Order: sequence, then structure tokens, then C-alpha cells
Amino acid sequence: MKHSNQISIKRRDHVFVLTGAGISAESGLATFRGTDGLWEGEHVEDVASPQGWKRDPERVWRFYSQRRKAALAVAPNPAHLALASLEQTLGDRFFLCTQNVDNLHERAGSRNLVHMHGELFQSCCESCDNLPFTDTQLYETRASHRHCPCGARLRPNIVWFGEVPFHMERILDELLRCTVMLVVGTSGAVQPAASFVHWARDRGHSSLRSYYVGPEHPSNASAFTQLFEGPAGVLLPQLFAVAPADSH
Ligand code: APR
Repeated sequence: MKHSNQISIKRRDHVFVLTGAGISAESGLATFRGTDGLWEGEHVEDVASPQGWKRDPERVWRFYSQRRKAALAVAPNPAHLALASLEQTLGDRFFLCTQNVDNLHERAGSRNLVHMHGELFQSCCESCDNLPFTDTQLYETRASHRHCPCGARLRPNIVWFGEVPFHMERILDELLRCTVMLVVGTSGAVQPAASFVHWARDRGHSSLRSYYVGPEHPSNASAFTQLFEGPAGVLLPQLFAVAPADSH
């Protein structure tokens, strides 16, 4: 396939976008996989696993309270805005799945999106089926922790390692119908998201074109039609060439 410096989106295309931590990097939020294997100085298993929660809920809430603070202090960058603007043009031919728990896509104006790893500004019961609720509070001490009416503790509504991602049925439907797949700012190291490009290619539309945007090659680089190398905030605002509604 001919490589180009833009992604051309035709009248009948359905666009599936998957984003990861890299799209929020230029807003000032740290990505996860540093060379030392730590997130903000914490081991993943201590703050993002059911075992870590069981061992030390105070540490887990401290970690997510820090992340709530950090997310409140930043704003969407041109990459988030470019995706929101693409959605405005394409309407329901656009679908966004993010692995990020921050709310920068919503704040940029994206609406047709799902958070497969949960949402930072939601809490839920660790035990019963009461629905998750919006929660911007910080829980930095054990005394501040809250409980569900059922008596169990409230936890962050985040999908931790070993838990099942949210919205998988909807995601699979969208992967099977998309004709353009764009992946932005994710290392391709965490499943199942790392396999989405393979699922769309092998089980989805025969004419799928798939693109990756980020400064480094992801682990699953060979699955893409084309890689655009660079920061998302610089590349995305110029990336889409959308055909007018009445063209072919
Ligand atoms: N623009 C685009 N991509 C960027 C930028 C940028 N400005 N800066 C960094 N990146 C890329 C990095 O090159 C890297 O490939 O973003 C990626 C970030 O990778 P990770 O930190 O591994 O984040 P992600 O892939 O989103 O992690 C997936 O793993 O830890 C869990 O649940 C957590 O959702 C997270 C999931």
C-alpha cells in the first residue's frame, strides 16, 4: 500500500480509534511503562491489582487520589481536540475506545466513547452491584474512606490487572464493522487492547486500513498498514483528509 502523510477517510468509512496513555502525555499526565517498571514510584501490582487492594486499600486510594489531583490540574491537548472534531464531522461513523481513565477526551468534546479500563472520577462498591457513581473526592487517609450502603468499601472504578475490561461486546461489534482503525499512544503491551488491530484485520472488514500514531513503535507495530511517527498533539490535527459527504 502507498504510504501517505494523511489518513484519507471516505464517505462510507467507519473509524475506530483506540487511545492509550500517550495521547494524554502532552497534557502533562505521565505514561505508565517507564524503564524502571514503576508508576509514579509505585509497583503496578501494589496499586493496580485486586491483591494490592486487599493488602493495602489506603495505599491504593492514595495513589488514585494523586491521579485524580493530577488529572484535574491538566487540560485536553490538540490530539484530544482533533479526535473530538473528527467525531463532529463523522457522527456515528466514529467510535472511540480509550484505555485511559482520565476524562480528557470528554473534556475535549468526544461523546461516542467508552473507557475500557474504567474511569478515574468514578467509584464503585468492591462487593455489590450498585452502579458506579461520579466521585471527584480525594481519599488520602483511611479515616476519609467511604462505604457502600451494603457495608462494603468503595473502591476506584478502575479495571485492575486480572480483571475483565468493560464494554467488550460493544468494542468487538465496532472492531468488526470499522474500515479504518487508528491507534494512538499505546505501547501495545497490555491485552486485550494490544490484539484489537489483529481482531479487526483477521475477523473484520476485508479492506481495513490500520494506522498507529506515536513517537515509538509499539510492540504490535507489524500489524499496522502504516505508522506515523511523532507526538500525537503535533500529528493528529493535520492527519485526516475527510471526503465531503456527497463524494465517493
Ligand atoms: N504522543 C503519542 N504517543 C506517545 C506520546 C505522545 N506525545 N508520548 C508517549 N507516547 C507513547 C509511548 O511511546 C508509549 O508507546 O505512549 C505509549 C504509552 O505506553 P504505556 O505507558 O504502556 O501506556 P498504555 O499502552 O496506554 O498502557 C495500557 O496498561 O497499565 C495499564 O491500564 C493501564 O491503560 C493502561 C494500559
